[in-house]
Amino acid sequence: MKAVKIKDDIFWIGVNDYQTTLFEGLWPLDGQGVSYNAYVINDEKVAVIDTVKYIKEDEYLEKLKSIIGDKKVDYLIVNHMEPDHSSGIVQLFEAYPEMKIIGNKKTFPIMKNFYDIDHNLIEVCDGESLSLGKHTLQFYMTPMVHWPESMVTFEVTEKVLFSMDVFGSFKAPVGGIFDDQNDLDEFELPTRRYYSTIVGKVAGQALKALNKLGGLEIGTICPSHGLIWRDNPGHILNQYVKMSKKETDDGVVICYGSMYGNTQKAAELLAVALKEAGVKTIKLYDVAQTDISYMIADIWKYKGLFLASPSYYGKIYPKMANLLYKLAEIKVDNHKVGFLAEYSWSGGADKSFDEFACDTKADLIDEILMIKGAPDETEKNAIKAIAAKMAESLK
Ligand code: FEO
Repeated sequence: MKAVKIKDDIFWIGVNDYQTTLFEGLWPLDGQGVSYNAYVINDEKVAVIDTVKYIKEDEYLEKLKSIIGDKKVDYLIVNHMEPDHSSGIVQLFEAYPEMKIIGNKKTFPIMKNFYDIDHNLIEVCDGESLSLGKHTLQFYMTPMVHWPESMVTFEVTEKVLFSMDVFGSFKAPVGGIFDDQNDLDEFELPTRRYYSTIVGKVAGQALKALNKLGGLEIGTICPSHGLIWRDNPGHILNQYVKMSKKETDDGVVICYGSMYGNTQKAAELLAVALKEAGVKTIKLYDVAQTDISYMIADIWKYKGLFLASPSYYGKIYPKMANLLYKLAEIKVDNHKVGFLAEYSWSGGADKSFDEFACDTKADLIDEILMIKGAPDETEKNAIKAIAAKMAESLK
């Protein structure tokens, strides 16, 4: 794609990355890619907002030059130092060595550490403005969304918010960058997966940031990943507010691990019992078969959560431990939670579930249900009973 005009003098000069398979080295992009959105305002002074991941820097510079020609870049605004947006700074600075770099007091130590850049720096504070000529920029600090130095830039004249990771999504837009050019349903899950895995831990700070930005009269939202929202910015705003408030829908996610099928059988019995108890939406995941990001994304969406795991050498099944690690980070404090712990001679899974419940202050629907090996009739009835309790708790 070529550079795209967003408003008078304001252009998208971002890139789509299909080369990276794991975002942050963790989260599968599933062949759908991710976009690194960057922007230029071609005013009396030329301001570039963010760079892109270094592997796509040539394409980014080509787009920049297609807009500004032989003009120089006066300012680079660094909204965020995570290298998916900042690792192109070195090459941009080499091309425009007189360029001033705008960030905040937390930006520059990271920049020095990552890229050994410590000159041509202009530090801005919350609410400070910069005039480019026709266009005026304002800077707002949004700490910990997603890193300590994170900030957003608001273009006052055209009411464009350059929102950095806020309002971002996985999945590279195909053929057109704007919301009105895309099927928004296709971006619902990539947005939820992105939010729950990347921003979920700092949802509280995200909500603060959203409240702060709520005072601005925003016409267009230009995030660092995903779509540019020019037609219906309220769509992504509402989705982000709902996720940041941890508002959940009715439904239950069951995540289970199973070595020889007994815990799987218990999990499937649980799903049937939940359905019989009136729960319409049930998501069943084998933790060994499903990437954790898909489970986390659905756990973020649905109110009910069951975790079912075998014991393993006196501890919990390792792939369930991995899920517990991430769940403890993002917390499940808006959920109703139940546990099934399988054992054959000694327990182990129950101890990890117990520690997890204490650490996260999870709202348990019942005590941990212990199941010895293949569930017998008594245990099958206990599964039905705990399913009924979950169904009741969701009402
Ligand atoms: Fe897209 Fe936190 O960087």
